Amino acid sequence: MAEEAILGFLQNNDEIAHSGYFAAEHNLDHEEVKNVIKSLQAFRYIEAKVLKREFFGLTDEGKKYAAEGSPEFHFFSAVPEEGTISMDDLQRMLDPFVFNVGSKQAPKKKWVAIGQQVSRTVQHVEDKVKEMLLQIQQGLVCFRTIIENSKPDLYNLWKWSGYSEVKKGPNYAPKRRSLATDLTRENLQNWQELDFKEYNVNAKGQPVDSGHLHPLLKVRKQFKDIFCQMGFEEMPTNNFVESSFWNFDALFQPQQHPARDSHDTFFLKAPSTTRELPEDYVARVKQVHESGGYGSRGYNCEWKREEANKNLLRTHTTAVSSRMLYALAKGPFTPKKYFSIDRVFRNEAVDKTHLAEFHQIEGVVCDRGLTLGDLIGVLQEFFSRLGMSNLRFKPAYNPYTEPSMEIFSYHAGLEKWVEIGNSGMFRPEMLQPMGLPEDVRVIAWGLSLERPTMILYKCDNIRELFGHKVDLKKVKENPICRIGIESA
Ligand code: PHE
Repeated sequence: MAEEAILGFLQNNDEIAHSGYFAAEHNLDHEEVKNVIKSLQAFRYIEAKVLKREFFGLTDEGKKYAAEGSPEFHFFSAVPEEGTISMDDLQRMLDPFVFNVGSKQAPKKKWVAIGQQVSRTVQHVEDKVKEMLLQIQQGLVCFRTIIENSKPDLYNLWKWSGYSEVKKGPNYAPKRRSLATDLTRENLQNWQELDFKEYNVNAKGQPVDSGHLHPLLKVRKQFKDIFCQMGFEEMPTNNFVESSFWNFDALFQPQQHPARDSHDTFFLKAPSTTRELPEDYVARVKQVHESGGYGSRGYNCEWKREEANKNLLRTHTTAVSSRMLYALAKGPFTPKKYFSIDRVFRNEAVDKTHLAEFHQIEGVVCDRGLTLGDLIGVLQEFFSRLGMSNLRFKPAYNPYTEPSMEIFSYHAGLEKWVEIGNSGMFRPEMLQPMGLPEDVRVIAWGLSLERPTMILYKCDNIRELFGHKVDLKKVKENPICRIGIESA
């Protein structure tokens, strides 16, 4: 309706000067007229200017005052010119509202004196309130005057918007052409007669109704790609259950170490112990723990086989690295670059940023004569591919690495250095019993997968990312967050 009216009107007229008047004259809803103008303008059928107006309008009370005069004026008029009148009489004579407001306003304006009786103090008054309201009604009052005489319950500031100077646009036609939306055979054959709807290349498209990758898996894929591009091989991580031996002892972690307590580690009830371990290697591990060797003094403490046999849920993927290095040591030595990204378990209190199970990313490089400089270089290369090139290292302690370094990156958003990982050079007490050549050095680092994922997906509660509280709709709808691009 409104569309026909507007396009039809413009066929014979130059312009619609004011959308509000146009709507009123054609008996149309102004909101509808506005929407049609907006849409016709988008398709360049018409051109139009946005018109915004702010003006004062009277409230119902204001309109009453403007027509009949203010209550204080009526109150004053009811008081006799000479002599006095009682309040009771006035109350009887006047409308209750007029009496209530008038009996307050009239003495305030010093028009009347109210004592035992009421009398006029002036003979003649002007009803300025009524005058001002009349002026407001006619649109004659400027903003300042109104503020100075502020009486907000009598009038309001109204906001109005519409269009002015609505004219024909470059695509004007008396009727809107329907656009061809499909590339059918017929449409293509008649293409010269048709107007095709433009492609909206920014449209998001329908969500695909299929399986979706969880954010952790998407980020894991990107880490995997980075490792692969740097020539790393993936380690087999398909054993969540590990023996204490590979998880701790092979890593020269003393049997009295607090991490080996059930407060920190989940031990298995059944099967509670491992079936087999490589005996000759176990003997060398026992030896290095108890009395040292390879230039080390060891821990000078009894090493118990029962402790090493205990099954647990692996607490770090370094357990996998220890198995891999042992396997590597068996053959003739070749330099290797390994990585893994998989789940680990810790018996910790769960909170916003910690879960009892999470994922670790681990990188290991072994070669002859590697130095701390190589470790720093590899870390710089690895993290710069994640968009973090400003790194700092802080000396740290791990039972299995010496030296050890925590890795910090400058976070521009948080304006501070944040810890992003842990690293070090595996100790000879770990590598020598495995049988690796003496000059082989192994550099390694580890970080969690959850932390960068939370940063990339702007999630501050890990429970929204992992566990039974995960919202499947979010998993379906979340975008791909590219490492090193958004996070750079
Ligand atoms: N395993 C360590 C951890 O759980 C990480 C690490 C890996 C440290 C390799 C040094 C070398 O935090």
